Amino acid sequence: MNEAARKAWNEWSDDYFYKSWYVGDFAADMETIKREPMRAFPRDVREMLGAAMPKLRGRRVLVPSSGDNLAVFGFHLLGAKVTSTDIAENQLTNAMKIADANGWRDIEFRQADSMTLDGVSDGEFDLVYTSNGAHVWISDLAMMYCAFWRVLKPGGAYIFFETHPFHRPFNERTYEEDKFVRFIKPYTSTHLDNEPPEYHWRVQDFMQALLNARFTLTDYRDMQPYDEDLSNYALDDKSKRNWEVYPFAALPSWLGVSARKDCIEDLMRENL
Ligand SMILES: C[S@@+](CC[C@H](N)C(=O)[O-])C[C@H]1O[C@@H](n2cnc3c(N)ncnc32)[C@H](O)[C@@H]1O
Repeated sequence: MNEAARKAWNEWSDDYFYKSWYVGDFAADMETIKREPMRAFPRDVREMLGAAMPKLRGRRVLVPSSGDNLAVFGFHLLGAKVTSTDIAENQLTNAMKIADANGWRDIEFRQADSMTLDGVSDGEFDLVYTSNGAHVWISDLAMMYCAFWRVLKPGGAYIFFETHPFHRPFNERTYEEDKFVRFIKPYTSTHLDNEPPEYHWRVQDFMQALLNARFTLTDYRDMQPYDEDLSNYALDDKSKRNWEVYPFAALPSWLGVSARKDCIEDLMRENL
């Protein structure tokens, strides 16, 4: 278990849920999800989900590194049987309190490191989904994707979206102060020596790790925010979506991936 990440997120958890560490308006986003659960996912992700898993009702869905659990609540309200895993007990407890307050009793919360998913059975899930901010804490992507592969049923899907790696060499915070776009590190510097350590994975790191874990890539998106996305994804200040006003808008905000667990036996049958 990644003890450094567990300890840090246990300490941060109350601030994360209750002191507006959340980017956007958590309460407003929760109300949106209750009204329209599919809006728990940005537009491109909704399209990828629609293609990979048109009917979510009754499906077994795992959300590792579940954090704010917005995706977990969305899948639950869409009728899926959801398991939420996270390394930090306090993150799970805080999410559980929200689920209880809303009477959402059918969600399973379980502590697990996403790189191993210990205690999660093989071949149990139709869909594994991770949302933005999960990969930055993961030291070995292929190991995590192999764990996702293990718990998926044959033909099951792994879908995720993440901060686009093209943003990593810049510091948008200092730009806010003096309006200079500065490189702060090379694209190739993936390991940040913080406590807990952070990882700024490149596009090739995501792709190679998916291939190493034997996933078949079925969709790839360079994603931008849209008006209908939750405040957490849409960028509260809409001028930040205009690259002539805010230069970082010239880059994609996130990358989105849909991948499938193809089993060699199924592929051979298809080709007979
Ligand atoms: C920023 S959240 C990402 C999820 C969600 N999109 C969000 O914004 O809240 C990061 C979550 O990953 C969890 N985490 C960090 N390292 C982990 C690991 N190795 N295994 C499982 N969860 C991990 C943290 O406890 C935290 O809840």
